[in-house]
Amino acid sequence: MSEAFVRLVREIYAEPRAPIPLHAPVMGALEKARVGEAIDSTFVSSVGTFVTGFEQAIARFTGAKYAVATVNGTAALHIALLVAGVEPGDLVITQSLSFIATCNAIHYCGAEPVFVDVDEETLGLSPDALRAWLEVHAERRSSGGVDRASGRRIRACVPMHTLGHPARMDAITQVCADWGLILIEDAAESLGSYYNNQHTGTFGLLGVFSFNGNKVITTGGGGMIVTDDEALARRARYLTTTAKKPHSWAFEHDEVGFNYRMPNLNAAFGVAQMERLPGLIASKRVVAERYAEWCRANGWHFVREPEGTRSNYWLNALRLPDAEARDAFLDATNHAGVMTRPLWAPMHRLPMYADCPCGPLAVTERLADSLVNIPSSALDNGLA
Ligand SMILES: Cc1ncc(COP(=O)(O)O)c(C=O)c1O
Repeated sequence: MSEAFVRLVREIYAEPRAPIPLHAPVMGALEKARVGEAIDSTFVSSVGTFVTGFEQAIARFTGAKYAVATVNGTAALHIALLVAGVEPGDLVITQSLSFIATCNAIHYCGAEPVFVDVDEETLGLSPDALRAWLEVHAERRSSGGVDRASGRRIRACVPMHTLGHPARMDAITQVCADWGLILIEDAAESLGSYYNNQHTGTFGLLGVFSFNGNKVITTGGGGMIVTDDEALARRARYLTTTAKKPHSWAFEHDEVGFNYRMPNLNAAFGVAQMERLPGLIASKRVVAERYAEWCRANGWHFVREPEGTRSNYWLNALRLPDAEARDAFLDATNHAGVMTRPLWAPMHRLPMYADCPCGPLAVTERLADSLVNIPSSALDNGLA
């Protein structure tokens, strides 16, 4: 059956022989023109009109009031956690089924991740598993949730919209409110994805996006923090620009900051990519529909957008019966020049995070062993 799948992918991408990547950026004259403008302006680094223009474009697109551009999504997560008040010794609840950046950013703050399970349908953090872990391990104090055994503060919860599919944000928001947890969404993969018609990344206090080369749109490398809270946005901008006090010529810093601001060159690229974004998502949904139809006809399990959501289908995924079937599929397809990949090794299996507190992770284990990502690039979106 893998041969039939390889034929399908080659047909979708009209590519009879050459290797087919997992996710290639779509870029061209538009990006060259904007980057050229940045070069002509001489503002190529962290000051320039494209940085603010890109921030405004993301704020408009997502419906967030404020957006702060960063050098990458990991830096955006780090700063979002810091400005939310995550401190050394805190616990931050997240999912083990994620890219490593989510956990690393928590670790950079001196906090420790707690892993709860994901939903089988959404692939994102399960609000039921979240509530269950809190009921067993935490107690409510006036200041919020506290881990009963260690007395450590449970400061925040970071769900991730896996592969672009929105997690169950109504229920997650409710559990966070019940337990006094700050909600920060890792929406790195879900630009253009909506839960109940609201853009992912805008449900919590802060949300974070990535514009790495493999994402729906790219800036080469880049990230963004979104929030409706003006003071937090101001503080995020301050911390990402080395905590330099505004002054026309003096260099004065009043705390340890970070050199995390997105350069103008990258933002110029991003401004061009924003023009493409609606076309890219429409095209990616066409690709997803082709896979879905084929899987229906051939008895394969294609991962669909959860009910009540609209996904950007960042990376399409198939679910195979078990790890053995998955590995046979990965071998056959990669050998035939069609790039496919397993999901990330879940965080609780990695040496640095193996001892973190966690709840039962049966769904995480099953998904990690049975999902494969398949080629998901947008087809030409019709722009220059
Ligand atoms: C879920 C998730 N979080 C965070 C990131 C970090 O983004 P970046 O690579 O831009 O640092 C990524 C992607 O790379 C991601 O997939």
